[in-house]
Amino acid sequence: MALYALGDLHLSFQADKPMDSFGRVWKHHERKIEKYVNQIVKPEDTLVLTGDHSWGRKLEECREDLAFIENLPGRKILLRGNHDMFWDAKKTERLNREFSPRLFFLQNNFAVYKDYALVGTKGFAFEGPFYVNYRGQIIGWDEERQIQAKKLVDREMTRLRESFRLAYGAGYRKFIMFLHYPPTSVLEKTSPFTEIAREYGVETVVYSHCHGESRFGDSIRGDFQGVHYILVSGDYLNFHPALVKE
Ligand SMILES: [Fe+2]
Ligand SMILES: [Fe+2]
Repeated sequence: MALYALGDLHLSFQADKPMDSFGRVWKHHERKIEKYVNQIVKPEDTLVLTGDHSWGRKLEECREDLAFIENLPGRKILLRGNHDMFWDAKKTERLNREFSPRLFFLQNNFAVYKDYALVGTKGFAFEGPFYVNYRGQIIGWDEERQIQAKKLVDREMTRLRESFRLAYGAGYRKFIMFLHYPPTSVLEKTSPFTEIAREYGVETVVYSHCHGESRFGDSIRGDFQGVHYILVSGDYLNFHPALVKE
């Protein structure tokens, strides 16, 4: 039994959104997902998909993408990504009712893996616009957008705290935390997300969203303040699910 994670499948079986234009790694990426997930994940395993599942704008436009995910091996847990328009933040329970027991949607709730609580939310990290000098160094940013970003971080922190509260209340003391966005923006060393991970003694933080060679290093990878951070963007892993916990 093992716990795996993979993010940003960006499926488009019903939407006209070929991913090939984003680089070679995205060519027929759905075939790679199917192949590698089937090679690596066993039926008794758990696979957390960390958001940006589908390009469909509403649930009816995502049916085939979600069916594709259902057909992958293992227990599937889904996190909300910034592109997951089908997933209204207020309707997570409805999704869970409709897709149970085939898929579990993680938000304002938690899942269990062995003696770990799997907690998570979409998260948010300020992404500019940044102003850069001729050397490519950041010398400023859009301050209004930064104020807006702070509100989004606060809202996501409320959801994440609820996930921790419920898990803690149910007696769990070991945590693995999932985010769609990276835990810190390129301007930050720490954030409310890294702080809560430290506060609860989270073992591992898993996130994705960062695409392309130049963005993979945007946030923390490896050990930081006693917490292990893993980036699981599909293109970063060439669509091989990452082992989070045996
Ligand atoms: Fe993405
Ligand atoms: Fe994303």
